[in-house]
Amino acid sequence: MLAGKLALVTGSSRGIGWETARVFARSGATVILNGREPSRLETRRKELSAEAGREMYALAFDVSDAGTVRNAYQDIFKSYGRLDILVNNAGILQDALLGMIADEMIDRSFKVNAFGALYNLQAAARLMGRAGAGAIINVSSIIGTSGNEGQTLYGSTKAALIGLTRSAAKELAPKGIRVNAVAPGFIDTEMTRQLPIQSGSNGSRASSCVGSGGQRKSQTSSLSWPLTSRHMSPVRLSASMAEC
Ligand SMILES: NC(=O)c1ccc[n+]([C@@H]2O[C@H](COP(=O)([O-])OP(=O)(O)OC[C@H]3O[C@@H](n4cnc5c(N)ncnc54)[C@H](OP(=O)(O)O)[C@@H]3O)[C@@H](O)[C@H]2O)c1
Repeated sequence: MLAGKLALVTGSSRGIGWETARVFARSGATVILNGREPSRLETRRKELSAEAGREMYALAFDVSDAGTVRNAYQDIFKSYGRLDILVNNAGILQDALLGMIADEMIDRSFKVNAFGALYNLQAAARLMGRAGAGAIINVSSIIGTSGNEGQTLYGSTKAALIGLTRSAAKELAPKGIRVNAVAPGFIDTEMTRQLPIQSGSNGSRASSCVGSGGQRKSQTSSLSWPLTSRHMSPVRLSASMAEC
């Protein structure tokens, strides 16, 4: 299905990003893993290469640093000459009731979750525009569409991703680049293990347009959905005019 495609999955050293990378690799794509920690990433790269039986790549960079992101895409261009798929998955969760949200939390959450996705989308669109084709998937959240007590900050950053998706999809469609967002519900990862409330005990976390709270493997396949389906679905929050 993805044979011959080169895909960058940001935040793929663990969690949803890692499982997405594995799904893509099994579907034939060559994956560039990303995260901030080079040694952890190299371990993952070897693991994925062994699993797929072919060479996978890794590029350590912080998605919230615009200059670093630009340099990373220059490296991608120099090394591979193209990029077919970007999954804007890297994200952080800093939950607090409104009165407890510190300024630094606001800065950091938006920097990583929203600005980071925008920096990557800009750089990827430049590369994909050269080829006249590409697909970008932004990982939003059910909290960005439905909201939840104590998650105003996180939900705002994830709602920003939906707005970003809608406009970028329209702008990039004439260049042959599809932009979509997915909004998963609760998934058991390192991120959600810090939450006091686990899957199933909170209505808004447990209900999602992609299904109830679940395991990484069952829901990561939904991330490859925008790369294949031609049909509208509740998980597709926005799509370009180009065919899916
Ligand atoms: N788990 C859920 O229930 C759920 C539900 C809906 C949406 N999501 C979204 O899905 C995405 C992945 O979540 P997850 O649950 O898999 O989280 P996770 O297990 O905490 O993994 C987050 C990944 O992002 C990377 N990362 C964090 N900050 C980064 C930065 N500044 N630059 C580059 N990489 C960075 C981490 O790597 P390093 O720390 O090594 O850099 C890690 O690989 C997030 O955007 C999250 O908001 C999650």
